[in-house]
Formats: sequence, structure tokens, C-alpha cells
Amino acid sequence: MSFPIVRMRRLRRSEPLRRMVRETQLSADQLIQPLFVVPGQGVRKPVTSMPGVAQLSVDNTVREAEKALKAGVPAVILFGIPDQKDAEGSSAWQAEGIVQQAARALKQELPELLVIADLCFCEYTSHGHCGVIEHGDVHNDRTLPNLGKQAVALAQAGCDIVAPSGMMDGMVGAIRKALDEGGHSQLPIMSYSVKFASAYYGPFREAAESTPSFGDRRTYQMDPGNRREALREARLDVEEGADILMVKPALAYLDLIRDLRENFEHPIACYNVSGEMSMVEAAAQLGYLDRKRTILETLTSMRRAGADLILTYWATEVAGWL
Ligand code: PBG
Ligand code: ZN
Repeated sequence: MSFPIVRMRRLRRSEPLRRMVRETQLSADQLIQPLFVVPGQGVRKPVTSMPGVAQLSVDNTVREAEKALKAGVPAVILFGIPDQKDAEGSSAWQAEGIVQQAARALKQELPELLVIADLCFCEYTSHGHCGVIEHGDVHNDRTLPNLGKQAVALAQAGCDIVAPSGMMDGMVGAIRKALDEGGHSQLPIMSYSVKFASAYYGPFREAAESTPSFGDRRTYQMDPGNRREALREARLDVEEGADILMVKPALAYLDLIRDLRENFEHPIACYNVSGEMSMVEAAAQLGYLDRKRTILETLTSMRRAGADLILTYWATEVAGWL
């Protein structure tokens, strides 16, 4: 059957009609708010390249997380910027590490909020790479035990989910084993399974003070051209026990969100990264884009591609709109 019997415009005539037949919903339940925690008290240091985002001390992190929770956002993901960095990133696994402190405060003040911890070393190492360096590159297998220690320390501090983002081979398995042996067999792993070496992380590296001091991350993060490899990465994480699979960045990789959705039964998350946010904010500031409509359309596209969960710097604000 076709035109003129079929007229597609009939179901677009009014907002109630459009709402009723809309196939993709955005809901606060699926949003995760990233927060950057720094040492100190009363600190709120804006990140220039990410309008609306600031580095926060633990007290202000609790305040910001409370806003998220009140808006209906169920979870935050924490990134820590420690005051001391060393070659291995050892403050990442200390009981008094910055994220550990924040997690304890959050679980005490806002017990119903889910606390996710990013699990990586780039914010903690003096060289800014995601693991231990040997012969000028990150040594995969030497980094794994450190990831295990960090995971256990985060679990002990009360984190509800750990999210390894370093793209080390075997990282999910090593973390699963360390958690299980440490008595945390119930703690889920949300793996950054498909993470590309992306220019879209630029603003984040200002926020997290994690720019590598030499080289780049192309020996561990994926090449942007690769699609089949993404499935291999995801499959390995599944075999190693990942509970949630993530694609990152999101907007330039919607096809991979779809691929993972179709090939796995696991919840799929995507990371609407810093550069995706900064592009929209910059264009909106110049008056080139309608900010609110662009944000909603962007996040809807990620849900439509197949993402269950979206990590986005706009989470709290968007939850307030829904
Ligand atoms: C580091 C990490 C990065 C992001 C999250 N965790 C960046 C990187 O690999 O340098 C990027 C987030 C963003 O750009 O918003 N493990
Ligand atoms: Zn890292």
C-alpha cells in the first residue's frame, strides 16, 4: 500500500500524536552524571573547555550529586584528581585516595545514589598514561595487578560499580578475580569495552589533568576506523565477566552502539564525551545552535542507536527537563 492511501504525515499532526508514536524515550533513569573530585574544601574550579563542569572538592561533590539525585539521576561516575602523582599511580589504590574519600562521603550522605568509579591510572600517574610504563609504552600485564588493587580499594570505600577505562587486555578478568577474592563478588563491572583513541577527549584531559606527557594512547585505545575489532573487544570483556559494556565516544560511533546492541544481551552504555559536549556548548554560545533541542536530539540518537545507559555531563540538567 502506498500514497495516497498511506500518508505518513497523519501521525505527525500534533504533539500528543507524535508523543504517542515516538519509538525512543529519554528517561532520567538511564543517565549517569560524571563528576571530577579534587582535594580540599569548598573547591569549585570551572573547566574552561567544558561550560558548566567544575572540579569539585568532596563536600561540593556531595552537593552536586545531591542535585543529580533530586533531578532523578540514579548514578554518578567519579574521576579523581589526586594531589600526588607517581610512576605507577599508587594513590589510586590507597584507602584515603581522593575517589575513595568521595565515595565514602557519598554513601554516607546519599545512600540511595549509585556511585560508579572510573578505574584507571591516567589521572594518577606522573606521565599521564593508563598504566605502568616500560620501554616507553604501557606494560599491559604489569598494570593488571594494580587495577585489581584499585578495584578492591574502591569496593572497600563503598563504590557500587567499577568502570575500567584503560583498555588493557585482560583487565576485566583481572579485576573480576581481585574483587571476588576480596569478598566483592556482587560488585558489577561496567567495562569501557570499545574505547577509541579519540580527539573528542581533549576537554576531559583538561578537567582530569590527564594529558599524557609523551606519546599518545594509540597503543592501547582502538583505532577509529575499526568496526569488527569492536566486536572482538566486547566479546572478550563478556568472556571475562563484564556486566555492562560501554562504547566511547558515543556520537561518532553510533554504529558500534547498534552493533553491540544486536550482538549482546548485556546492558549497553555509551559515553557522550567531553568533546561532544564542548562542540554543542560552543556552537550554542555563538548562537549557531538551539542548545536544548540539540542536547535532547543528541541523547535521543544514542538511545535510538541502542544504548541503555548514557554517561553525559548534561545528565542532571536534562533530567530536570524530562
Ligand atoms: C581515561 C578516560 C578518558 C575519558 C574517561 N576516562 C580519556 C582518555 O582516555 O584520555 C574521557 C571522557 C571524556 O572525554 O569525556 N581513562
Ligand atoms: Zn586512563
